[in-house]
Amino acid sequence: MDLVELNKRRTFGIVSHPDAGKTTLTEKLLLFGGAIQIAGAVKSNKIKKHATSDFMEIERQRGISVATSVMAFPYRDLQINILDTPGHKDFAEDTFRTLTAVDSAIVVIDVAKGVEEQTEKLVEVCRRRNTPIIVFINKLDREGKDAFDLLDEVETKLKLKVTPLSWPVGMGQSFQGVYSIYEKKFIHFKPHSKQDTEDSVIIENTKDESFKKIIGERPFETFQSDIETLQGVYPVFNREDYLSGKICPVFYGSAVNNFGVRELLDCFVEIAPTPLFRETEERIIQPTEDKLTGFIFKIHANMDPKHRDRIAFFRIVSGVFQRNTNYYHVRLNRQLKFSNPTSFMAAKKEVIDEAYPGDVVGLYDSGNFKIGDALTEGEKLTFKGIPRFSPEIFRFVNITDPSKFKQFAKGLDQLMDEGVAQMFTKEDSNRKIIGVVGALQFDVIAYRLEHEYTAPCNFEPINLFKACWVKADDPKKLEEFVSRRKRDLARDKDGKLVFLSESAWTLKLVQDNFPDVKFSFSSED
Ligand code: G4P
Repeated sequence: MDLVELNKRRTFGIVSHPDAGKTTLTEKLLLFGGAIQIAGAVKSNKIKKHATSDFMEIERQRGISVATSVMAFPYRDLQINILDTPGHKDFAEDTFRTLTAVDSAIVVIDVAKGVEEQTEKLVEVCRRRNTPIIVFINKLDREGKDAFDLLDEVETKLKLKVTPLSWPVGMGQSFQGVYSIYEKKFIHFKPHSKQDTEDSVIIENTKDESFKKIIGERPFETFQSDIETLQGVYPVFNREDYLSGKICPVFYGSAVNNFGVRELLDCFVEIAPTPLFRETEERIIQPTEDKLTGFIFKIHANMDPKHRDRIAFFRIVSGVFQRNTNYYHVRLNRQLKFSNPTSFMAAKKEVIDEAYPGDVVGLYDSGNFKIGDALTEGEKLTFKGIPRFSPEIFRFVNITDPSKFKQFAKGLDQLMDEGVAQMFTKEDSNRKIIGVVGALQFDVIAYRLEHEYTAPCNFEPINLFKACWVKADDPKKLEEFVSRRKRDLARDKDGKLVFLSESAWTLKLVQDNFPDVKFSFSSED
């Protein structure tokens, strides 16, 4: 393994609730890396808010955004891979899966709104895997919540231990800048500052009179008491704790003003992990291993009938990926070769000859892949950590033209492989239930079944609260549960047993009645 190439890689995702500033931050990071010249290039690919009810428009934009699904750029002597995570709630599943392919994450929080619902969910996914997290509190140019209250909120709502590495002086109208605790310098806030005109002063000792002169007497006093509190309450930053997911450094800034972004990036490249190991059912795979291994974490289908190709996103875990080389597709038990694998350098796709651990390669696919599939050099491996979570909305799916049953079944199967939604088959009636995170996916499924598989369908409401994967150590207890609650049970796509609960109350009741059965909102617990 080429350790130089391996150690260059930093693969991460930016997560946030919509509107916190993820796209803006991504764009500023790309500008630093020289990956884009014009601000707005990423933004124009973003799924627009006003289009939320029009799924064709969203799909069209999603099509464009394939180019920005992975953004690779050089910075200093490193290669940074940003994996885009759709902020749109209806694509939350996509985001969950993308997070399995990152080695660390940056969480963006709006200073005025604090920790929002979507952020909580996404951070929970990161926490499950102890993904190292950096928090960026954005929009300091606006009035917002008190900086300490925000840290409390992050700790309680996101269940993260934090330590600020920068601290704001003022906020909104009175925002003067941030003091970088990490670099011991004060950076003056200038709206819309250019990356190369940063106005900063080294302040080794924040008690210095010179600092008072810069920020003024009252802010200076506030700052002194803030720093005292910080030192008393928050631990000193330690990289080991960050890498093991025990502590999250916090930065303050204003993405749209390109303020605090360079500090974030400079710290990120110093502390963020190089490509990490991954667990499989069989063993742990170290990135330094010579043989190629990796997994598919996302499949993008093109809805344009003229271009029916799909792109499977392959995260390399170990070894070197090479073009036109045979690799072993574990699930299909067959060799596959890729003649035009694409990289995502500088937001434009190009065919690549080689890629390294941490990199994501786009593989053109005609239906061979499903999410979670592994490619190796012959070893049989099943990657762990690509869980499914309980959907939020459920409907029965019915075929409208029974003569099209074959197409209908194949279509549903393929759409589920792509991860568009989840399907559960009821134990008592064999009826199929589709579960989604956002209702928009029902429109996508209906449209695609009709247009790609010529099998129109309709949906029928069903009153369900959650799908819980069930297990028990004692097979007898599980059997007893199954025989008593058969009408509420279904199988997921992998044949795992799932309890379909009508309400939180029913779930609680069943849990009380069957204390030996374990109920989980995730397929991997
Ligand atoms: P998202 O990807 O997380 O959904 O957020 P996005 O970057 O699109 O930002 C959401 C809105 O917040 C945008 O305004 C953006 O300009 C604004 N924004 C981002 N960073 C800052 C900041 O530091 N300060 C302030 N005041 N605003 C910020 P918009 O009006 O929705 O879009 P646009 O018309 O400005 O592009």
